[in-house]
Amino acid sequence: MLLLEKFLNKNVVLIIYIVVFCRTNAVNGDNDEFYHGKFPENFVWGAATASYQVEGGWNADGKGLNIWDVFTHKKGIGHVVNDETGDVNHYRFSISWSRILPKGTLEVINKNGVVYYNNLINALMKEGITPIVTLYHWDLPQALQEEGGWLNNSTSDRFAEFARFCFQTFGDRVKFWITLNEPYVVSYHGHEIGAMAPGIKGNGDKIYIAAHTLIKSHANAYRIYEREFKNKQNGIIGITLNVHWQVAKNPFSPADVKAADTATQFQYGWFAHPVFINGDYPEVMKWKIGNKSKEQDLQKVDFQSGSTWLKVTPTAIRKMIKWTKDYLGPNVPIYITENGVSDRNGTLQDSHRIYYYNLYINEVLKAIRLGGCDVRGYMAWSLMDNFEWARGYSERFGLHYVDFNDPKRPRTPKKSVDFYSKLISNNGFVHNKSNVI
Ligand SMILES: *[C@@H]1O[C@H](CO)[C@@H](O)[C@H](O)[C@H]1NC(C)=O
Ligand SMILES: *[C@@H]1O[C@H](CO)[C@@H](O)[C@H](O)[C@H]1NC(C)=O
Ligand SMILES: *[C@@H]1O[C@H](CO)[C@@H](O)[C@H](O)[C@H]1NC(C)=O
Ligand SMILES: *[C@@H]1O[C@H](CO)[C@@H](O)[C@H](O)[C@H]1NC(C)=O
Ligand SMILES: *[C@@H]1O[C@H](CO)[C@@H](O)[C@H](O)[C@H]1NC(C)=O
Repeated sequence: MLLLEKFLNKNVVLIIYIVVFCRTNAVNGDNDEFYHGKFPENFVWGAATASYQVEGGWNADGKGLNIWDVFTHKKGIGHVVNDETGDVNHYRFSISWSRILPKGTLEVINKNGVVYYNNLINALMKEGITPIVTLYHWDLPQALQEEGGWLNNSTSDRFAEFARFCFQTFGDRVKFWITLNEPYVVSYHGHEIGAMAPGIKGNGDKIYIAAHTLIKSHANAYRIYEREFKNKQNGIIGITLNVHWQVAKNPFSPADVKAADTATQFQYGWFAHPVFINGDYPEVMKWKIGNKSKEQDLQKVDFQSGSTWLKVTPTAIRKMIKWTKDYLGPNVPIYITENGVSDRNGTLQDSHRIYYYNLYINEVLKAIRLGGCDVRGYMAWSLMDNFEWARGYSERFGLHYVDFNDPKRPRTPKKSVDFYSKLISNNGFVHNKSNVI
């Protein structure tokens, strides 16, 4: 285990992607009544995408290769249509590093890439939609991968240069930055099991090196923004962490309750603790990883449990928000940057998605109104069906249906769009029995 130098990020915004992975279906005693009420004024409503999942044009206009181009050897799906976001007031997208810096460094700047994002940002602003921009949503330039990628500690300096370039170039209009999307996934899926780009299989070692470089990258970009841009540009900057809420198999067993907490520390605390608490990893991680003789215990915890399937457990989102408030303190504002559900049939009559959003968003409202948690925004995943990474196009998360067989990729709103837009225009759940499913 490597030790991080101290880089306490006071008041950084925490952005959570909450997916709920559970070992048990039902959580007793926490299925409260549906809560009718409104979200706070100025609550951020959005829909989210990521560059690799929607942009296409993998080799167009001077863009360099990235690790997902190489990992999949496939094209993406066509350009984003800007007028599809009419119902939301925020749109989260990511910048493809190699579209702007084809070699990953400032040595070559691809003007066409800069123009592409300038046009996108300007089009959004013209429609009154606030951009939320992720700097790294998994698509490392292949040129940097060839130098070791996240296993090479100087990649955190390359990331800092890229981040500075983006702040300089787009920061006059972009006021909400996300440094990294889900470094846990990059570390574990990319550098341990190898299921995602760059597809490296590790032996319980590379995963920690990659994570370390990622955390330092976040810290670098965060510090640069604070020092060089925040005063002029007045934006905010945070990190998106994915969170798997862990439920004790037997809630009456102290060992199981402790195991669930340890599992949360290994997944969420791994990144949240250094960034928000004290620049170092959680004690339990240092203790367990530093101590070979205890590794057996760790395996019993099964902290990757359920990572192959996704369950609908709406109350878990409220528990996770509460856990965050208790763990990081009440002063860390939370934005939920992705939350959603997939299907394989692509039906436009997606009642299951409405059911899902109704219950999950209601739990978010309860966290605010009943739990006093500082949640400031919610973004549905996803604006449209897209390339679901290693799962290709088989799993559809979209509010809009995309016909992948048509070269124009036409998009059709699903029934959930009506639901979501109505919810946003009411800024909550008005008391109306027919709204409750
Ligand atoms: C690490 O990356 C830098 C460029 O960022 C490169 O100069 C260096 O050779 C790389 N180190 C290794 C061990 O590949
Ligand atoms: C990377 O690691 C090398 C060797 O451990 C060290 O000398 C160097 O300072 C590190 N670079 C960064 C950017 O942390
Ligand atoms: C290993 O476990 C012992 C307790 O058995 C603990 O005191 C020690 O700090 C652990 N070692 C590390 C490196 O965490
Ligand atoms: C589509 O799939 C979802 C999720 O698996 C399911 O709930 C729904 O009933 C299906 N709808 C149709 C029309 O097949
Ligand atoms: C209640 O919801 C239904 C269906 O969404 C809608 O048609 C109706 O106008 C709503 N009633 C009120 C009082 O808002």
